[in-house]
Amino acid sequence: MKSFELNNKQLIPAVGFGTFLIPNNGPTYDAVLAALKAGYRHIDTAAGYMNESDVGKAIKDSGIDRSEIYITSKLWLQDYGYENAKKGIETSLRLLDVDYIDLYLLHQPYGDYLGAWKALEEAVQEGKIRSIGISNVTVNLWNKFKDGMTIMPVVNQVEFNPFTQQKELRKVMDEHQIRLEAWYPLGHGNKDLLENEIISQLAQKYHKNAGQIILRWIYQEGVISLPKSTNPKRMKGNIDIFDFELTEDEMKAIQSLDTGKGTHNPDDLSNETRLMGLKIHD
Ligand SMILES: NC(=O)c1ccc[n+]([C@@H]2O[C@H](COP(=O)([O-])OP(=O)(O)OC[C@H]3O[C@@H](n4cnc5c(N)ncnc54)[C@H](OP(=O)(O)O)[C@@H]3O)[C@@H](O)[C@H]2O)c1
Repeated sequence: MKSFELNNKQLIPAVGFGTFLIPNNGPTYDAVLAALKAGYRHIDTAAGYMNESDVGKAIKDSGIDRSEIYITSKLWLQDYGYENAKKGIETSLRLLDVDYIDLYLLHQPYGDYLGAWKALEEAVQEGKIRSIGISNVTVNLWNKFKDGMTIMPVVNQVEFNPFTQQKELRKVMDEHQIRLEAWYPLGHGNKDLLENEIISQLAQKYHKNAGQIILRWIYQEGVISLPKSTNPKRMKGNIDIFDFELTEDEMKAIQSLDTGKGTHNPDDLSNETRLMGLKIHD
């Protein structure tokens, strides 16, 4: 597995296994164990996915040394604010059953964001978290929060795939060496994307499937991807992308597919109201 360097000099595996919408108490355990067997060494979970305990159990039972596995989790909005965030971090550590988390993100850019960020910064100083990052942060939201941060985020996890390329955001993030991480790298299974003609032609040329062409393109863009699959064949295939290289013209052909928008707009205030209302515990 190839890695990228983050702005704090730590390394992150370039492709991680996404666990959104995989239930706890079995399915996430099975999926993460299978992913680790298939060769993944980076697992992306979140307090909000309510499957951290299965992720932790699968990692323990895999027999792979903890130090070889990169774990990302995220703090949910309900636990924002300095004091709540300190408790939220402890809950993630307990559910994952680990003594440190490699990367911890603020999942959504609302509420008492900077209070929560301060708790994350302290957890870095205490060795409980190695790197901290942000998610769903647009240029507008970045301008709102950035001056209140002492430690710069290492990543911004946002919707990213050939149809949603975040070009403006990338320029701003690049100024701070904040790497993008791609959620919905395969468009959440979007057929228009997976059956796109340019991508299909490249799949034929390289004897790969459309998902592999997209994930290879994301890798060559310097973006970390987090594909999710519970299908063992696709799970394996999604990390079998390091034995070929797209040419500059092929990279450009995929760049031309950008629509300039995605399925989720964090600047839309109705999202703030909706997400602030989602509770993951009493
Ligand atoms: N920070 C955030 O707010 C946020 C938001 C959304 C997601 N995420 C993270 O990003 C991860 C990825 O997002 P996602 O799971 O929604 O979408 P995704 O990885 O883009 O797509 C997953 C879908 O594509 C299918 N699929 C997987 N590999 C394929 C392939 N090679 N060819 C064709 N279809 C394929 C999967 O079905 P099968 O399972 O049947 O293979 C599944 O239906 C999440 O799991 C989560 O960790 C973060």
